Parts: sequence; structure tokens; C-alpha cells
Amino acid sequence: MRRLLVVGMLAAFTFTSAAAQNLEIIKARKDLLSNMGDATKEPGKMIKQEVPFDAATVKAALDVIIDKASKLPDMFPEDSKTGGKTEALTAIWQNKDDVASRFKKLVAAAKAAKDNVADEFDFMETWPKVVGNCGACHKKYRAEKK
Ligand code: HEC
Repeated sequence: MRRLLVVGMLAAFTFTSAAAQNLEIIKARKDLLSNMGDATKEPGKMIKQEVPFDAATVKAALDVIIDKASKLPDMFPEDSKTGGKTEALTAIWQNKDDVASRFKKLVAAAKAAKDNVADEFDFMETWPKVVGNCGACHKKYRAEKK
């Protein structure tokens, strides 16, 4: 009887810790993604000419993208498909290589852009090439907003 109780407790413990880990990584990847979202806000306004162009802000945003997007390929383990209000589509886990290479491509585009945003004209041409990667992946792998 006592042994059964211990086994039961162990099972319950294993279950809760697995669930906790899963929610933790979902939260962590959402944080990385929303950091990138926040970073793109000011340059997005610059593109629309709502605020004046500022090269330093753009470069800082590119650094955030490079940093976060480098970490993101590891943020989709098998136990993070559901829960935590994730908008990640299951297609991600069927196309892991494609997802990883899209993040790599985003990093490469952001790195290349850093040398090409010194003036507003270069920025206007370069910025859309960076953020085009965001929308393209969302279309394929992120649930539509309802
Ligand atoms: C390779 C695919 C991919 C790329 C590239 C990508 N995203 Fe996402 N993004 C996702 C997925 C998948 C989710 C949903 C994650 C979840 O809910 O678990 C997401 C969610 C988000 C969210 C919502 C985060 C939250 O708090 O729920 C923001 C904001 C975001 N992305 C911004 C960006 C920006 C900005 C870029 C480009 C600089 C970008 N993403 C590039 C796949 C991508």
C-alpha cells in the first residue's frame, strides 16, 4: 500500500514537472518573439515616415533580431506543441529544417542589413527585406489571429 502511494506521488511529480517545462519554453519563445516585435516597431514607423529616420535605433533593432532569432530554432521541442496559448501550428514539427533555416535566413538578412542602413534611402530598401522574413514564416507556421 505504502509503495503504491509512493509510486503514485512520483508519477504525479513527473507529470507536473514535464508540464511546467513545456509551458516555460512556450513562454520563453513568445518572449523572444515579442522582443523582436517590439524592436521592429520604431523602424516600422520610420518606414511609414511617422517618425524621423534614426540609424542608431535601426541598428539596435537589428541587433535584437540577430540575438533573438539565433536562439529561436531551439525553442520548439516536441513537448511544446500545445499549451500556454501557443499560436504555433503543428506544421512546425513536420518541417523542422525549414523552420530552422527561416530563422537562419532572418539572422543573415539582419546581419547584412546592419551595413546597409546608414542613410534613409538604404534603410527604405533594406528594412523590408529583413521583416519580409517575419510575415512569410507567420503565414505558414503561426495561427491566424481571430
Ligand atoms: C521561422 C518562423 C518565424 C519567423 C522568421 C518569425 N516568426 Fe514570429 N512567430 C513565429 C511563430 C511560430 C509564432 C507563434 C509562437 C507561439 O505562440 O508559440 C510567432 C509569434 C510572434 C509574435 C507573438 C509573440 C507572443 O507573445 O505571442 C510576435 C510579436 C512575432 N512573432 C514577431 C516576429 C517578428 C517581428 C519577426 C521578424 C523580425 C518574426 N516574428 C519572425 C514564427 C516566426
